[in-house]
Amino acid sequence: MTDTLAPASTSPTAADHGAARLSRLMARGADFLGSRVAVMGGAMSWVSERNLVAAISNAGGFGVIACGAMTPDLLDREIAGTRALTDRPFGVNLITMHPQLFDLIAVCVRHGVGHVVLAGGLPPKGSLEAIKAGGAKVVCFAPTLALAKKLIRTGVDALVIEGMEAGGHIGPVSTSVLAQEMLPEIADAVPVFVAGGIGRGEAIAGYLEMGAAGVQLGTRFVCATESIAHANFKKAFIRASARDAVASVQIDPRLPVIPVRALKNSASDLFSAKQREVAGRLDENAVAMAEAQLEIEHYWAGALRRAVIDGDVEHGSVMAGQSVGMVRQEEPAAAILGELMDEAAAALGRRGG
Ligand SMILES: Cc1cc2nc3c(=O)[nH]c(=O)nc-3n(C[C@H](O)[C@H](O)[C@H](O)COP(=O)(O)O)c2cc1C
Repeated sequence: MTDTLAPASTSPTAADHGAARLSRLMARGADFLGSRVAVMGGAMSWVSERNLVAAISNAGGFGVIACGAMTPDLLDREIAGTRALTDRPFGVNLITMHPQLFDLIAVCVRHGVGHVVLAGGLPPKGSLEAIKAGGAKVVCFAPTLALAKKLIRTGVDALVIEGMEAGGHIGPVSTSVLAQEMLPEIADAVPVFVAGGIGRGEAIAGYLEMGAAGVQLGTRFVCATESIAHANFKKAFIRASARDAVASVQIDPRLPVIPVRALKNSASDLFSAKQREVAGRLDENAVAMAEAQLEIEHYWAGALRRAVIDGDVEHGSVMAGQSVGMVRQEEPAAAILGELMDEAAAALGRRGG
C-alpha cells in the first residue's frame, strides 16, 4: 500500500496518538491487574483452565481460572499448573454458592493468587474479609447501581458490570445501558471492568472513554488455539451468528432460574424438561427451593462439560455471547488480543483529542 492511498486514520501520527491514548485510558486497569493491557479473559467453566489462562496472561492480558464446581484439591492443582505456564499475574473466579467457598479461598491465599473474582451472587458474609486478609484483591460482579454502591462500601477492590449480551449466566440489562447508568456514578470509586458483547476494539475504546478501567471478554477467547475446548465446540462458534446465541427460557414461574445464553440446539428442550421435572418435585414438596436451584446449576455445569469437553454440541450447552458472530477462526490468544488492541488504538486515533 502506498502512503497516498492510506487513510488518514492509519497515518503514523494518528496511530501513535491512538496507541498512546489507549495506554493512558487503560493505565488504571492494567495497574490494578498487574498486566500490560486492561483486558480480563472472563472465566469460563471448563474452558478457562491453565492453558487458556496462561496464554491470555502471557499475551499481556489477565487470564482468570474458572473454578466452577472444582474441589479445593483440583483448584490447587490448576493454580500450580497455570503457574508452571506463566510468570504473569492471573486471577481465580469462584462461584459464591460453592459449598466449599472458604476452602477454595484458602487455596487461593496459599498460592498467593493476587485477584479473586467472586461470581454467581453477592459475596457471603466473611468471604471478602477472608480474601483480603490473605492479601488478594477482590473483584465482584455488580448487577445494579444500588448493589454496586453497597459492594464498594463493603470494601471490594474492583467491579465487573456484565450485560445480557454475554455468554453464560446473564442478567436482564444490556451492557450499553449498564455502562451508561453505572460508570458515571462508580468509576471514580473503584476500577470498573465492562463485560458482555464486546467483539471488537472499537467497543473497548468506547467503554474506556466512558470511564471503564478495562474490559472483560469471554466469547472472543473460546477459539484461541490454546483453548482446550473440543474442536466441535470451536466449530459451532465459528459457524454461529449473533442471533444464534439465545437466552434460556423459564418454564415455571415458581422456579426462578437465572437465564443462560447459549447457541440454540436440543439442549434448550432438555433444559425445559429438567425444569418441569424439578418443578414437579417442588409441587410434591420433595425438594426445597434452594436445593432445586442448586440442582439447576449442576445441570448447567454438566451440560457445558458435555459440549466443551465431550464435543456433544447438540445435546450439551454451547454457552456463547452475542459477539460469537465476530469469532471467525481459531487463532492464538496473542493474535486475538493484538487485533483488539489495534482496533481500539485506531478508533482512538481517528477520534483525535
Ligand atoms: C462458555 C462460557 C462459560 C462461562 N462460565 C463462567 C463462569 O464459570 N463463571 C463466570 O463468572 N462467568 C462465566 N462466563 C462469563 C464470562 O466470564 C464473561 O464474563 C463473558 O463471557 C463476557 O461476555 P462475552 O461472552 O460477551 O465476551 C462464561 C461464559 C462463557 C461463554
